Amino acid sequence: MSQFESTEYPLKFEIIKKCSVSKARCSQLTLPHATLQTPQFMPVGTQGALKGVLPHQIKDLKCNLILGNTYHLGHRPGPELLTLAGGLHKYMNWDGNLLTDSGGFQMVSLLKLAKVTEDGVEFESPHDKSTMLLTPEKSMEIQNAIGADIMMQLDDVVCTTLEDTARMEEAMYRSIRWLDRCIAAHKRKSEQNLFPIVQGGLDARLRTISANELIKRNTSGYAIGGLSGGEAKEDFWKAVSLSTDILPDNKPRYLMGVGFAIDLVVCSALGCDLFDCVFPTRTARFGCALVDNGQLQLKRKNFAIDERPIDDECYCYTCQTYSRAYLHMVLNGDEVTACQLMSLHNVAYQMRLMQRIRDAIKNDTFPDFVRNFVRNYYSSGK
Ligand code: GUN
Ligand code: ZN
Repeated sequence: MSQFESTEYPLKFEIIKKCSVSKARCSQLTLPHATLQTPQFMPVGTQGALKGVLPHQIKDLKCNLILGNTYHLGHRPGPELLTLAGGLHKYMNWDGNLLTDSGGFQMVSLLKLAKVTEDGVEFESPHDKSTMLLTPEKSMEIQNAIGADIMMQLDDVVCTTLEDTARMEEAMYRSIRWLDRCIAAHKRKSEQNLFPIVQGGLDARLRTISANELIKRNTSGYAIGGLSGGEAKEDFWKAVSLSTDILPDNKPRYLMGVGFAIDLVVCSALGCDLFDCVFPTRTARFGCALVDNGQLQLKRKNFAIDERPIDDECYCYTCQTYSRAYLHMVLNGDEVTACQLMSLHNVAYQMRLMQRIRDAIKNDTFPDFVRNFVRNYYSSGK
């Protein structure tokens, strides 16, 4: 890994250009498997595959950083098989970068039976109903076996709209203790990056304490978590801004679980560099195509006679080949083909949006880009 010789971590982050009126920046991020530019969106391939999109198609969209989940991969194929296979990159034949989430968030959001203790997250196995415990050490063991270029710490995630300040505070401090256990358990420090996660809900005091504690650990990048759980946009953006105000400028900032176009534009302006969300691929499977002024529900009757492509500026195979009318027909019949064509467009849309954000930052036109984007987005009568 000669490109990292001068640093302690397998990551290099170089700012190419900063916006003069916002916190936005365009950077070059080098990870063990590839170099990319930020701001960047990462599509989610929960089980080591993006539903409906093949690895070479992801590559064709110039995407070389995708997300996987420790919770799912820890079950199947499991750490032993992953280690035998030489890690997830080899197992799934993906030579781009991988980022894995630590598992706790998925368990808490997927399994109502999950229970958090100081040891870790306890849950009932979905396979055999036995009780299992995901500890910070176990999460690191699985993520080390996966071999992701960026791993996430195990954190205690609470829903900002449901919990009180006392529970928020407990979760924030517990996440810091779990971070220290993750750092101690991480066995491949020269090959894999470990990102801590800022927590603290919408509470400025808690988020400030959290961010300052993480900074002391001097990791190669940071994540901002505990958001996008249904809070009001303004509260969400404020919590993001507060976090990016504190986190150091010279390291990447990953805003977790955020993927609506408007949030990608606004949160890039607030100084975030990486984003992920299941939304674009999940919504595709329900017949929703992403466009600048919102979303097209292609199953609706009016699209049956619409001969235009989803988006005439999109370079994806779907838009280059098929009309909205054809997609309408397929969506109402052949689910497998529809899932592929729609997912391909929605991932392409996200990638192109991020490219436009980066170009605008580089060309000094980012403030205009944001103004036009927001006006267009909210003028569509969505
Ligand atoms: N995905 C979205 N938000 C979060 C979070 O706060 N923590 C983790 N681990 N994953 C997330
Ligand atoms: Zn398209």
